[in-house]
Amino acid sequence: MDARFKIRAAKKSDLNEIVKILVGEFAKPPYNEKWGKKEASNKIKEYFKFCKFFVAEINREIAGFIIASSYYHVTKKLWIYELVVSEKFQGRGIGKALIDAAINHFKKEKITGVRLIASKKARAFKFYKKLNFKETDFVELEKQL
Ligand SMILES: CC(C)(COP(=O)(O)OP(=O)(O)OC[C@H]1O[C@@H](n2cnc3c(N)ncnc32)[C@H](O)[C@@H]1OP(=O)(O)O)[C@@H](O)C(=O)NCCC(=O)NCCS
Repeated sequence: MDARFKIRAAKKSDLNEIVKILVGEFAKPPYNEKWGKKEASNKIKEYFKFCKFFVAEINREIAGFIIASSYYHVTKKLWIYELVVSEKFQGRGIGKALIDAAINHFKKEKITGVRLIASKKARAFKFYKKLNFKETDFVELEKQL
């Protein structure tokens, strides 16, 4: 692990930085999502109700965050809802360290696996493959209206 960053539980005061990172990174390809600050902030606040947040901090700057929950207790899986590292801090082991922190936190709930949804077009897909995530038989379905 890179000695220059530390992982800690997020505080309410990290919200602005978390929103900024989310909006910035998901505006880029392949996502091209144009999140408004207010919408993104509302989405993150919803997660606060049932998720655990960890942030990576470098010299008091938030470099990335993870939002995860073991809400679906029946399957005993940890769900990662959001994992984002600012582009300038990517490739330093922060994403992996954030996942490890979430897994460690939820171990007490005897989780048997970790699940998430990722775009096959994203660099993140290769990252998850590298971390030994396997594709499941579930796919997202969508109908255009
Ligand atoms: C996906 C993301 C979280 C990865 O975070 P990161 O801090 O850059 O990743 P790490 O440095 O922890 O990488 C961990 C391992 O994955 C590998 N990896 C990271 N990006 C990779 C890529 N694009 N292709 C192949 N391997 C990759 C690293 O080489 C590293 O392997 P190593 O330990 O053998 O060196 C980050 O790129 C990101 O935030 N992307 C934009 C938002 C996003 O797509 N989030 C995921 C939504 S599902």
